[in-house]
Amino acid sequence: MKRFKKILKWTGIVLLLLLGGLSATIAMRQNIQYDRPYPAITASTDSAVIQKGKHIIFGAAHCADCHSKANPDSLIALGQDVPLTGGFVFELPVGKVYTKNITPDKETGIGNYTDAEIARALRYGVHRDGTAIFDFMPFHNMSDEDMTAVISYLRSQKPVRNEVPGNEFNMLGYAVKAFLIKPVGPEGEVPGSVKVDSTANYGKYLANNVANCVGCHTERDMMTGAFTGEPFAGGLEIDGFITPNLTPDPGSRIYNWSQEQFINRFKMGKLHPKTPMPWNSFKRMSDDELKAIYAYLKTVKPVKGKIK
Ligand code: HEC
Ligand code: HEC
Repeated sequence: MKRFKKILKWTGIVLLLLLGGLSATIAMRQNIQYDRPYPAITASTDSAVIQKGKHIIFGAAHCADCHSKANPDSLIALGQDVPLTGGFVFELPVGKVYTKNITPDKETGIGNYTDAEIARALRYGVHRDGTAIFDFMPFHNMSDEDMTAVISYLRSQKPVRNEVPGNEFNMLGYAVKAFLIKPVGPEGEVPGSVKVDSTANYGKYLANNVANCVGCHTERDMMTGAFTGEPFAGGLEIDGFITPNLTPDPGSRIYNWSQEQFINRFKMGKLHPKTPMPWNSFKRMSDDELKAIYAYLKTVKPVKGKIK
């Protein structure tokens, strides 16, 4: 018995030392700064470029759905351009992550960021200080042309003062942040521009790199955001909904939908009041954009999803 107690004592001490070492390492790894390149993006004051950015921001890219907490959805439904003042909080298993104020306010927004710093955040997934951004946004492969348009619109907004709290992590969050969260960057080469038309090629770009259809309609590990399922096969649970399968499998939700039905569904906007899908922003997509996405979804690998 005595010996046993001794062993217990020693394993206890060893464990404590290990845990101590681990928490020191975790603490050390909280603010790792990653060296990432600055894209050569410069905002323009050309009104056509700003207009294009606005169309992307309030349509396919649905920035307002996340970068506002003033019940953006009902304002978007009224066709208003919601100020991108941030402050919406995502309650994750790892803690609270707040969307940032991306109006040009100098103290609480992006007024002091350079164009290249904003572009680097969106493309390479690092904040201005080089720390990793949680991968909520799918814009890593957004073309130079569209990135320029987006940043040109951001610059043209009215600055709004709104102090957003810093992210708050729990113990699990600190550990995940220390070892699992790394900046996500582009895959392959980022295009200078992508031809805007109603083909599957443009649809592929929109569905993956702008509108993030793939991000919700694919199973992921909610702790790290890593993809675990087949692209577009659905099955991800968000806010009590399970995303449907969008692949061309006979068991998919849209297998029998004509192009016209697909477009009309998008024009209807939100049908389930609590759905996380940003239908009211997507409603602003043009018919050509929707045709392109429809055409692309016909070309992805058919997969039997968890639900129709
Ligand atoms: C699905 C939600 C979501 C969408 C859509 C979204 N964002 Fe974000 N964005 C976030 C979150 C969450 C953060 C903060 C992440 C973090 O702190 O790790 C963020 C951070 C940022 C940052 C970094 C700010 C900083 O201080 O480092 C910029 C810039 C930004 N978003 C711009 C945009 C733009 C422009 C769009 C649309 C083209 C957009 N976001 C769409 C959720 C979103
Ligand atoms: C933020 C997560 C999210 C994003 C982004 C998203 N979806 Fe969804 N989608 C959902 C959820 C959840 C549902 C099920 C609830 C509903 O119908 O609103 C859904 C449902 C659907 C449906 C079935 C609608 C019906 O009436 O049967 C289609 C079609 C669809 N999504 C297509 C898309 C396409 C195309 C995109 C990209 C342009 C996209 N989704 C982006 C979460 C998302």
